Amino acid sequence: MDNIRVNISDALGAVSQNAIEAMAPEVRNSVNTLVEGTGAGNDFLGWVRLPENTPDTLLDDIKATAERLRSECEVVVVVGIGGSYLGAKAVLEALGNPFSVYDNASKPQIVFAGHNIGEDYLHDLMAYLEGKRFGIVVISKSGTTTEPAIAFRLLKSRLEATAGREAAARRIVAITDAKRGALRTLANEEGYTTYVIDDNVGGRFSVLSPVGLLPIAIAGHDIKALMEGARERQKAILSGADKSAEVYAVTRNALYRSGKKIEILVNYNPRLHYFAEWWKQLYGESEGKDHKGIFPASVDFSTDLHSMGQWIQDGERTIFETVISVANVDHEVRIPSDDANLDGLNFLAGKRVDEVNKMAELGTRLAHVDGGVPNILITIDALTERTLGSLIYFFEAACGISGYMLGVNPFNQPGVEAYKRNMFALLAKPGYEEETKAIRERIS
Ligand code: PA5
Repeated sequence: MDNIRVNISDALGAVSQNAIEAMAPEVRNSVNTLVEGTGAGNDFLGWVRLPENTPDTLLDDIKATAERLRSECEVVVVVGIGGSYLGAKAVLEALGNPFSVYDNASKPQIVFAGHNIGEDYLHDLMAYLEGKRFGIVVISKSGTTTEPAIAFRLLKSRLEATAGREAAARRIVAITDAKRGALRTLANEEGYTTYVIDDNVGGRFSVLSPVGLLPIAIAGHDIKALMEGARERQKAILSGADKSAEVYAVTRNALYRSGKKIEILVNYNPRLHYFAEWWKQLYGESEGKDHKGIFPASVDFSTDLHSMGQWIQDGERTIFETVISVANVDHEVRIPSDDANLDGLNFLAGKRVDEVNKMAELGTRLAHVDGGVPNILITIDALTERTLGSLIYFFEAACGISGYMLGVNPFNQPGVEAYKRNMFALLAKPGYEEETKAIRERIS
């Protein structure tokens, strides 16, 4: 199983092989802490064996629900934010055709809501849904997050008004805590189909649970192959046969300690834009605490070579790049010859577009390394369900190892509460009376 290959040779200018080897005991400790569940946040390690522990019967059940929604709905709105949205969005984009949204034959359309508080966004979504048969997958582990709760209120009320309460209940699926939270209470009262997010699986580690699997199955993708890829990677990493996650974790920590504070995840395939968004949440929320942590950034190349390329080549030398390189694309498109050759591109005639892209990739990597930007290269075979399952598990495992090497609890996110307290105080939420008074005095 080598559908993921990690190459750190272009990082070795900034950190030596010896320095990395000297960190071997530390990385081993972190792996053991993770596998044995003896570290901080060890009540959130359900994701470590999630691929292995997910029975095929659950996958079949999810597929059956997905089929029902596929046959009943023209549009399915997936409502969630953070870990309850980014994993599904990442996989859908990685496997999907970006133009299918304009294709009336590909049903159902999957759209997202609840990941922002944009009034215009919600207005435009409601307008888009006008006259369409739609369903809702509402995902919230806590069941109380403001953004998805607002979107769900609007959507539920529209669906009940247009389809009737009973039919609406058949077209709503809730993914939430087994027992707690407002969404669980509502789902039980209304008789929605539900799936559970286990207590020991944090939001950003939940894509391989029903949180990611149901939307991915509704889009028609093979969730069994996705889980198979994750299971293979889990087995290989946990048995110690596969060191790729350790190599990635130790190298990025060595670079961080040498002053490289920002990691830029780079792709050369537009389908990976949201995979980087998922990765940013995974690493940002796991590592950015106690005033420590690599800042996770991302770029889409070659698009962003025409915007951020200058900074990366020539700006402050506090960055390193991690490139996800996709070895094989799905389709073949060759560049045509042109009699006039006004653009001077006939030297490319007959070549595949991907060949040009690969040379942009290689040329950029060499230029950035020459410019003092260390590079970790992660090559994957292709964008398939199996490879994505494998890649997701690889990044999750490396994140746990890396967080322990950094000396933080990688599985909490206390910092995300501060804005919520202020927002609730400003909106005069019952129970926040003192905070409301204090914040009003502060801003007056
Ligand atoms: O990783 C996390 O735990 C968070 O980003 C959550 O996923 C996000 O806040 C959404 O929370 P919930 O699923 O409870 O609505």
